[in-house]
Amino acid sequence: FGLTTREHAVGGAGLEAGGDPLPAATLEAAREADAVFLGAVGGPTWDRVEAARRPERGLLRLRKELGAFANLRPVSVPPSAVGLSPLRPEIVAGTDLLIVRELTGGVYFGAHRRDGDSASDVMAYSVLEVERVARVAFEKARQRKGRVTSVDKANVLASSALWRETVASLHEREYPDLEVEHLYVDNAAMQVVRDPRAFDVLLTGNLFGDVLSDLAATLPGSLGVLPSASVGGAVGLYEPVHGSAPDLAGRDHANPLGAIGSAAMMLDDLGELEAAAAVRRAVEAVLEAGTVTPDLGGASGTIAVGLEVAGRVSDVAPQLA
Ligand code: IPM
Ligand code: MN
Repeated sequence: FGLTTREHAVGGAGLEAGGDPLPAATLEAAREADAVFLGAVGGPTWDRVEAARRPERGLLRLRKELGAFANLRPVSVPPSAVGLSPLRPEIVAGTDLLIVRELTGGVYFGAHRRDGDSASDVMAYSVLEVERVARVAFEKARQRKGRVTSVDKANVLASSALWRETVASLHEREYPDLEVEHLYVDNAAMQVVRDPRAFDVLLTGNLFGDVLSDLAATLPGSLGVLPSASVGGAVGLYEPVHGSAPDLAGRDHANPLGAIGSAAMMLDDLGELEAAAAVRRAVEAVLEAGTVTPDLGGASGTIAVGLEVAGRVSDVAPQLA
């Protein structure tokens, strides 16, 4: 199949190019594309930039403008990765969960105010926002093991009480076939590392999903391997869970597997299921062979790992080579 790619600046690169973390030309191209494959934004160069123009704002605006309200973050530990986890093999082996993180609402998008010695951030959710992301989680659960764990802080936050009520009501009305439980985020954090295999789909708000997904990265051994897809709008945004890792820049050390996995999720959504499966099998074979970057305890570079995955795609699916 044909794939035409065009590159556009976002985040720090957007600031360098024209003083905007989401340049108009980038947004326009993103809207017109079939999919957007995102690198990462941010770095120490822009740490002192005013809040409204930080590189991160470019990414947040892009998610919002594309209507990508659901961020899918699969976390699995295939046999090839069990030994790379800092957790005991008997705890992580067989982990296969999906974090469904609300991505265009909550405290990320409420008013951020600084007033002298005090500051505030508003965390708001509407029934509509909760229902549409919960529906994504429920639909995914139907294709998986049929279990959804909804994560909130309903014992303290009004927005979480609404979250819980809305999820419970949607479950009862439209998805009674699924098993749904509600956990407070503090407890959920503990359970994710104590017994990750107990989870199938984890549904959560924007901030809690951000925190829980980095925590879940301990399961496969590194944040560097986690892929994600941000969906819900007309165009999907495919982005690794990790950031720009400025400390690794230019050292050929960064793990490419999170980005490669995001590309596989993109191929799935573009309807190229066979290609996506071939990429995933290739990644597993590379993990099996132990060709991994230093974050996973290996000595291979970014380029070597990437080339090895590419080579194995043609081994496992020669018709795609
Ligand atoms: C992520 C990142 C972003 C987020 C940052 C870069 C704004 O941490 O995708 O998890 O918090 O959403
Ligand atoms: Mn994050």
